[in-house]
Amino acid sequence: MNMTKSMGVAILLAVALPQTVWAGDAALGAKKFALCKACHEISTPKNRLGPSLQGVMGRKAGTLEGFKFSDAMKNSGVTWDVATLAAYLANPKTFMPGNKMAFAGLKKPEDVENMLAYLEEASK
Ligand code: HEC
Repeated sequence: MNMTKSMGVAILLAVALPQTVWAGDAALGAKKFALCKACHEISTPKNRLGPSLQGVMGRKAGTLEGFKFSDAMKNSGVTWDVATLAAYLANPKTFMPGNKMAFAGLKKPEDVENMLAYLEEASK
């Protein structure tokens, strides 16, 4: 596919599906996912140190079967979407005190946006 054509497709998609378009760059997010990989699978339902992130969009926090979540996560009442994930990944401890994910957070807003773009795509 040549450049002009693929740009045309991208524009068409952006117009046709505004609700699924996120400002982040999924390819850059995929690189950053190296930070999560030690604990999370995303393309398989396998749990590691952390729960699988397959299907995480739209899932209620702490409900994935077969993973032992903290009480904080189970009782949070949070549903994962672009907004709640952005807040959680920027600062897990502030967003959800008592959760047991040992991750300091993505400090740069663009890293959060890119990660969200990647999660939307890869968690399907
Ligand atoms: C050191 C291991 C570790 C790292 C690194 C880590 N996580 Fe986690 N993650 C966990 C654990 C453990 C939990 C469960 C926390 C709890 O139950 O309180 C979790 C929970 C989550 C959840 C909630 C899942 C659900 O089903 O409710 C999301 C989303 C998540 N992590 C995303 C990420 C992303 C994205 C990254 C990388 C930016 C990341 N995590 C890095 C261990 C980790």
